[in-house]
Amino acid sequence: MKTSYCERYGGPDVYQFLEVDTPKPKENEVLVKVYRAVVSPTDGNFRSGKPFISRLFSGLVKPKMKIHGEMFVGIIVEIGAQVTDFKANDLVYGTNGMKLGAYAEYIAVDIKNAIKKVPSDLDYKDVLPLLDGGITALPFLKELAEVKKDDVVLINGASGAVGSMAVMIAKHYQAHVIAVCSTKNVEVVLDLGADEVIDYKKEDFTKRLNHYHIIFDTVGKSTYGQSKKSLKSRGIYITTVPTLGVMLQSLFKKNKDKKRASFMAAGLRKAKVKIKDLVELENLLRSGELKPLHGKVYPLESLGEAQAYVETGHKIGNVTIEMIIEKENQK
Ligand SMILES: NC(=O)c1ccc[n+]([C@@H]2O[C@H](COP(=O)([O-])OP(=O)(O)OC[C@H]3O[C@@H](n4cnc5c(N)ncnc54)[C@H](OP(=O)(O)O)[C@@H]3O)[C@@H](O)[C@H]2O)c1
Repeated sequence: MKTSYCERYGGPDVYQFLEVDTPKPKENEVLVKVYRAVVSPTDGNFRSGKPFISRLFSGLVKPKMKIHGEMFVGIIVEIGAQVTDFKANDLVYGTNGMKLGAYAEYIAVDIKNAIKKVPSDLDYKDVLPLLDGGITALPFLKELAEVKKDDVVLINGASGAVGSMAVMIAKHYQAHVIAVCSTKNVEVVLDLGADEVIDYKKEDFTKRLNHYHIIFDTVGKSTYGQSKKSLKSRGIYITTVPTLGVMLQSLFKKNKDKKRASFMAAGLRKAKVKIKDLVELENLLRSGELKPLHGKVYPLESLGEAQAYVETGHKIGNVTIEMIIEKENQK
């Protein structure tokens, strides 16, 4: 099968487009012919080996996993002997956890991971953003911040993968959403349903004092220290990219009578919890409340180019690798 292969740590140009053996599914695995795979900011860590501490998982001197890519959608072509919940020709989407492997024509996926069938009434391209952004934004807003009707919710990084989902999910909960982005993305976030937009090139959102019930920094560009004064009494600051201080607060400080900061590693939650969230997100997709913000699409051989774009920190929505030609569509 064809893959973009990573034999050594380095920049986006280290990937080699080559042929390798197609994996054989183990007894608890399914072999999926990949249609699309997500290119996310975290991918770069597996390729670059930075920050250095990430090498404790990814290999000290060179990458243990040579084929990267965690989130995929595709069709099952073979099942392992112990697999009963899936069958050949099931269209599925999910994550392969730390084993990665989605940047290839085929991926062997352990079914203990968060993997589920694509409902027949949904487009396979639309479900991928539920994984890339949706299953992060939903628990941050629903579980950590307990968002509710009329809350004033600030979403920083509203034009990104997590941020765009956060805007639409907060609107589903009938919050008043203030989205932060740069000038070029103002129309994009208004289209997502934001009630107000702050252009960060022109205004610093932290200058509005006692203004927000929830600040959700989806891109880690602010600090709790700077933002605290702009939270209302008992307001909460949540971030996908925490400082040590925010992490410690998340562990020890649960006092809801005070302003507070919190974080979760949404990707480390149990598979069955993620699948439950995916079902909820699928319903929002069906009702039209979620309209995925599709970003750039690259062929597999241009993975390095795709990662270089993602690493600018200014991508719009969800960036994907497309493995199939258009006519090989669902059904
Ligand atoms: N904790 C978790 O469980 C978890 C889970 C998933 C992801 N993450 C992390 O969450 C982060 C976000 O991921 P993502 O894929 O959503 O990011 P992303 O799509 O790459 O974010 C890009 C967006 O950020 C905006 N942006 C850049 N600089 C900004 C600034 N100074 N102020 C406001 N917005 C700015 C850009 O808008 P402009 O072009 O307009 O500047 C762009 O649209 C990543 O660091 C990822 O590793 C954490």
